[in-house]
Amino acid sequence: MVTTKLPDGPKHPRWLQLIQWIADPLNCLNAYSRRYGDMFTLKLTSFEPFVFLSHPQAIQEIFTADPKQFDSGRTNGIARPLVGDHSLLLLDGNIHSSRRRLIMPPFHGERMHSYSQIICESAKLVASQWTVGKPIEARAAMQEITLEVILHAVFGLRQGERYQQIKPLLGAMLNMMDSPLSSSLLFFKFLQQDLGDWSPWGKMRQRKQHIYDLLQAEINERRSNELSGNDVLSLMMSARDENGQPMTDAELLDELMTLLIAGHETTATALSWAFYWIHKLPQVRQKLLDELDSLGDNPEPMAISRLPYLSAVCSETLRIYPVLPLTFARVTNSPFKIMGHEFEANTMLAPCIYLTHHREDLYPEPEKFKPERFIERQFTPYEYLPFGGGNRRCIGFALALLEMKLVLATILSNYQLALADTKPVKAQRRGLTIAPANGVRMVLL
Ligand code: HEM
Repeated sequence: MVTTKLPDGPKHPRWLQLIQWIADPLNCLNAYSRRYGDMFTLKLTSFEPFVFLSHPQAIQEIFTADPKQFDSGRTNGIARPLVGDHSLLLLDGNIHSSRRRLIMPPFHGERMHSYSQIICESAKLVASQWTVGKPIEARAAMQEITLEVILHAVFGLRQGERYQQIKPLLGAMLNMMDSPLSSSLLFFKFLQQDLGDWSPWGKMRQRKQHIYDLLQAEINERRSNELSGNDVLSLMMSARDENGQPMTDAELLDELMTLLIAGHETTATALSWAFYWIHKLPQVRQKLLDELDSLGDNPEPMAISRLPYLSAVCSETLRIYPVLPLTFARVTNSPFKIMGHEFEANTMLAPCIYLTHHREDLYPEPEKFKPERFIERQFTPYEYLPFGGGNRRCIGFALALLEMKLVLATILSNYQLALADTKPVKAQRRGLTIAPANGVRMVLL
C-alpha cells in the first residue's frame, strides 16, 4: 500500500527537537531510531520537517535517482554565512553539475600523486615541533597539515605571506564553533547579529572579510601578471560559460572559501579520530606498525595508500563517527516513492550516514572499533557512505583518504605517541560536524 503521510517521529515542540539536535545529535539519532525505526521525521524549527532515512535500500533509491529529482543546494542555507551565496554547496541543477566538473579534476586521478610529497612533508614539519612530554592536541595539529595541503591544491605551489595570514584566520573562524553552544550561531538567525568586534557574529564576519580580502588580492595579482597553473584557482579563472563569460570575482571567492573550509576541517577531524582509536587500542597500533614495516625503508606513498589494514583502519574511523552525521538533505522536486512510501514534492529527505553505519545487521557490535570488518567483507555504497553519494558525492574523498593514510603512516613510523587521558573521548558537535570533544590530547613519548 502506498502512503503519503510523513513517517512517524517525536511529538514534542519543534524548538525542543532543534535544541536536542544541536546539543546532542548522536544520542538524539540513536534514541529516535530505536523508537521509530529506519524512517522517522524530525521537525527542526525554521526548517521543513526532515525525514531521516537509514535503510540501505532507501539510500540506494535516493542516490541512483535522476539528479533532477532532488535539489540540495537550496536546503544548505545554513552554510551560507560561512561560504557565501555562490558556493557549490548552495547550487543546484545545471550550474551545480558544470561547476562540479570544473572543480573536480585537481582532486582525482594522477593529480593525487603530486600531493603525496606535500602531505608527508607537512606531517613531518608539524610533528618536528612536538616536545617530549608536552601535551599535543591532535585535532589542532592535523588541521595545520590539512590546511597546508588544501592551500596547495587550490592555489598551486605558491607560498608566502598571504598564505601565512589565511591559515590562522581560517582556524580562528572555525574554532568559534568548537562546541554545541557556540555552534548554535549557525542554527539561530537571532544570534547572527553583527554588533562589532566583541559580538561572536561580528568577529566571525570580520575574519571572513579579512580572508576574502586576501583571496581577492591573490586573484588580482594573478590577473595582472597573467599567472596560471594546474591548480583549482587557475582552472576557475580560465573557465568560460556557454556565453563565453568567465566566473565573477564574487563567484570565485565563494568557491575558494568553500574548498578551503570543506577541504581541511573534515579531514583533520577524521585524522584526530584515527589517532584516538589507534592509541586507545594497542593491538590496532601494533598491527599497523607491522604492516608499515613490511614495506621496508622509505616506502612509495602509493604503496602506503594500498596497504589493506591501514585502509581498513581509515574506513572504520569514518564508519564509527562519520565526520558528517547526514549527507546534504535531498528535497524532492516532484513526488517520489521510497520503499513503497510516497513523498510529496518539497519533502526534505536526510540520508543518515551515522545510523546506517550503526546498523547491527551490517556492522555487528557497531559501537566497537573493528577494522577487520572491512577486510572480511565489502560494503555497498548504500551501506557505507562517509562521503555521501549520487550527484553530490564529496569531491574531495580521494584526497581525504590519501591524506589520512599518509599522515598516519608518516607519524606512526617516526614517533611514539600516547593518549594523555585514559577516559573515553566523547563525540560532540563542532559546527556541522561531529568531532572529538577535547580534540584528542596526546603526548610524545
Ligand atoms: C574525511 C574527510 C571528508 C568527509 C568525511 C567529507 C564528507 C562529505 C559529505 C558527507 C558530503 C555531502 C555528500 C552528499 O550529500 O551526498 C561532502 C560534500 C562535499 N565535500 Fe567533502 N568530505 C571530506 C573531505 C573533503 C575534502 C578534502 C574536500 C576538498 C575538496 C571536500 C569538498 C567537498 C565539497 C566541495 C562538497 C560539496 C559537493 C557538492 O555539493 O556537489 N570534502 N563531503
